[in-house]
This record gives sequence, structure tokens and C-alpha cells, in this order.
Amino acid sequence: MDKISYIKNLVLTWYEQNKRTLPWREDPHPYKIWLSEIILQQTRVAQGLPYFQRFIAAFPTIEHLAKTDEESVLKLWQGLGYYSRARNLHQTAIEIHQNRNNQFPATFTELIKLKGVGEYTAAAIASIAFHEPVPVIDGNVYRVLSRLFNIDLPIDSSEGKKMFKSLAQELLHPEKPGEYNQAIMEFGALQCVPANPDCQACPLQELCEAYHNNTIDTRPIKRGKTIVEKRWHYYFVLTDQEQVYIDKRSDKGIWGGMYQFPLEETKTPLPPEQLSELSLWNRLYKPHFDLQIIQNKKKHLLSHRQIHATYIILLSKDKLTDTIHPFQLKPTKELSKLPVSKLMDSFLTKHYESIFENGSR
Ligand code: ADE
Ligand code: SF4
Repeated sequence: MDKISYIKNLVLTWYEQNKRTLPWREDPHPYKIWLSEIILQQTRVAQGLPYFQRFIAAFPTIEHLAKTDEESVLKLWQGLGYYSRARNLHQTAIEIHQNRNNQFPATFTELIKLKGVGEYTAAAIASIAFHEPVPVIDGNVYRVLSRLFNIDLPIDSSEGKKMFKSLAQELLHPEKPGEYNQAIMEFGALQCVPANPDCQACPLQELCEAYHNNTIDTRPIKRGKTIVEKRWHYYFVLTDQEQVYIDKRSDKGIWGGMYQFPLEETKTPLPPEQLSELSLWNRLYKPHFDLQIIQNKKKHLLSHRQIHATYIILLSKDKLTDTIHPFQLKPTKELSKLPVSKLMDSFLTKHYESIFENGSR
């Protein structure tokens, strides 16, 4: 047997013996495969599973998802990050409900035309739900292949991508593409893990070129590191304890569509005595407000941002009524129902009571 066939079979056998029992494996309906793969682009199986279960409980079919409102979807997605994925999920559900009679397109070529469905997701749905022989290449697959074949082409170069794609296509099991694709991803997730894989227990050790060349720790090669930029966030919490001004982010960016306190962002930190230079300060601050500044001790880390957050609490003794465009005056009791970023959520968990429930007006 040649090396390629040998690997294929070993990976499939390993999968049979080691795969996790997961709800979308029990019932590989395209809706479930789609949902699970979008969630798994955000997080690992253990963290993603409860999200999947809550989604399926709330929206058992694509029709249920199509008929709900965007905010309910965002709320269920809360904590996963990259909220445009949730909005695309909802919009694609609507599209499939309205124009396709709730039926997913059944081919890679058609699937990839759906909003929010890229090459990875289209290949996963096409192969797992419809048995089309297209390879799925995620981070796990890049790692496994780069090690088995000791490939030193960067996975984020176009040359590297081409190379990995043709290798993955060659390795794909033509009769069991969905099974094989899940097998190699699962192999990467459980056996050939990023740091210190247990190569002694690996059925592919003998074939593994990185193992023999002692290059496991340097595979895969990545050329560009994501640049993490620092940002300072100044949130204005203007409240009379019954109501508070809230802003809805525009649809762009990873927090798109989420709610937050009115925010001003800077690229350099402002010393406390210079907070009054913020334009929101000039719009929102009145001398008779009680002022409190809360500074996050911990930085909030996103894939491409390091956020230093400061909260400027402006407590009004008078009832707030002014319209301050574009903010919405919302009852503080409703804050917990709004979809918010993890940063906002942890602020509310920590400070909600002391700010909004403490004392009487
Ligand atoms: N990670 C993302 N999708 C996966 C899948 N279908 N099986 C195992 N790990 C995964
Ligand atoms: Fe991965 Fe080690 Fe197995 Fe090679 S021998 S495939 S590096 S776990």
C-alpha cells in the first residue's frame, strides 16, 4: 500500500475507535452540520457544544431560525465573539426559508454562494451532509498534514494553501468523504494537538516525517503573525438608575450589531484629568452628576486587539428624559436581555448592582 492510502485508512480506523459522540454526528442533517461548523469556527468542541444545544433547543429547524429576530440570535451567540457570523447565520436561514423551501443547497458550488458560508463551511456541509468528495481544511488539518509530510511552506501563503489543498484532495476517501474529513479534524483535535502531542501513542508515528525529523514543534509554519493593536475604550454610563443610555454598534466588525454603553475609542491612553477632552464627555457630562470612574484592571484580549477599558459612570439625580442621538434610553432592568460583548457582560456582572440598584434616587 502506498503512503497516502495507508494514512487514509489509519486515520479512519483511529476515528472509529476514538471519535466523540456529538449530536450533529448522530444526526448529520445539513442544518445541524452548518450550525455546528459555524460555531466550531469560533471555539472548540467542548465550549461550542452547549451553544449548539441551546441553538437547537431554541430553533429546532431552519424555519424556526428564519422566523426569529436578529437580537434573539445574537443573544444566544453571546460570548462566542465575531457576531457577524451570527447575523449571517440568521440571514442565510431567512434566505433558505423564503427562497428554497427550507432545503439546503446540496453541492459545494451552490453552498459557497450562501452568506457567511466560505470554502471551509461549504466543504464541511457538502461532504458530511451530502457525501460530496471535497476536502475540508481547518487549522487541525493544516497541522496534521504539515507534520505527517513535514511541510515547511507557510500555511498562510498562497503557495502553501495550494499545496495543502492538493494534498488534502489526494488523501480524501472518495467513498467516505464526510467520515474522512471529520476523522482528520478529530485526529488533529484529540491526538495531533498543537503542543506536546503524545506521539508515543500515535498510530501514525511510523509514517510521520515531522516526528522523524524532530520538527513537530515548528509545524505548521505560519508566516504572518496577526498584529495585535492596543486600544483604550471609554464607556459612558449615563443613568438615573432606572434608565441608561445605550448604543447599538453598526453591523461592521467583530462586535457588529451588539449593544454597549456609548463608547469613545482612542489609540493612546488618556490620563484621568484629560477625560474631559473626550467629545462624548462634552456631550454627556453635566456638573451636577455624581461621577465615578471605574478602570478595568485586566486588559481584554481579542484576536487583533488589546483593550484597556474605562467606565465613566454619570449618575443623575433627576430622571433622564433627553433624546441624545443616536443613543437609546433603555430601562436598566432590560440590560441583561441585550446582546453584548464579553467585555460589557463581565462589567455588568461585576458592577450592575452597585451602579443601578444601590441606594435610592
Ligand atoms: N472542528 C471543526 N469541525 C469539526 C468536526 N466536524 N469534527 C471535529 N473537529 C472539528
Ligand atoms: Fe502528530 Fe506525533 Fe502522530 Fe506525528 S506522530 S501525527 S506529530 S501525534
